[in-house]
Amino acid sequence: MQLVLMGAPGSGKGTQAQRLVERYGIPQISTGDLLRAARDSGTEIGLRAKAVMDSGGLVSDEIVLGIIHERLAKADAARGFILDGFPRNIAQAEALAALLASLKKPLDVVVQFDVNYAEIVKRISGRRTCQTCGRVFNIYSAPPGTAPHCDRCEGKPQLIQRKDDEEATVRKRLEVYEQQTRPLIKFYGDQGVLRAINAEQDVEQVTAALFALLDALPAARALQGAQSKAS
Ligand code: AP5
Repeated sequence: MQLVLMGAPGSGKGTQAQRLVERYGIPQISTGDLLRAARDSGTEIGLRAKAVMDSGGLVSDEIVLGIIHERLAKADAARGFILDGFPRNIAQAEALAALLASLKKPLDVVVQFDVNYAEIVKRISGRRTCQTCGRVFNIYSAPPGTAPHCDRCEGKPQLIQRKDDEEATVRKRLEVYEQQTRPLIKFYGDQGVLRAINAEQDVEQVTAALFALLDALPAARALQGAQSKAS
């Protein structure tokens, strides 16, 4: 099953992708996570990407496509994958189409996360990430009095705020989304693979809507059949 999760920064793509990984047993491929990992390991690509990410712009297509080619070639992507934050402009979408055609793996669905901007700004300002496992939390939905640490990792590591989640950078990321990524709604709509979900609902309701949409796909039924045979 080949999926794309598309939506503005902070719309909840990463949160839901983690749940889809558990349900369907296919990997989440987040270009944001891959670029942050390259940045943190100090590779040449990571250092080139860092300045652009910190400013809220888009990293060059050349870098991003290189990362995607490498990641899709890994064995765990053979049964399918969840693309999170990629493609982000028409050039990337066209390059993805060519790559998937050569692999004979067409996209099953592109899910558009619809959320209003006031909600997005609130979600991003409250986002905190575990520096060990990468799991995403939010200070507004955490129970009152909860300490800012990850309860799933040994040693309960501190949660951190992303540098590009500062207000001025978020404004720039939203502008970039409008100019470069929103045109993909028409691009995929014209191909008949686009489905929109109301991602303003709470996390559990969004998950339920996504599962209902994806479970109806023949590709999802095949994956779940294979998983239940294996267990
Ligand atoms: P990236 O990491 O992809 O960031 P993004 O697309 O801006 O998306 P986010 O990670 O901000 O949000 P999300 O939709 O995953 O929301 P989340 O689940 O965390 O990209 C970062 C940068 O890398 C880019 O700016 C660019 O520079 C570069 N880059 C990446 N891909 C690129 C590409 N293809 N080409 C070029 N450059 C690229 O949720 C947000 C918060 O809300 C969390 O705290 C969460 O707990 C909370 N939340 C989630 N769902 C709900 C809900 N339903 N109700 C209430 N709270 C919720």
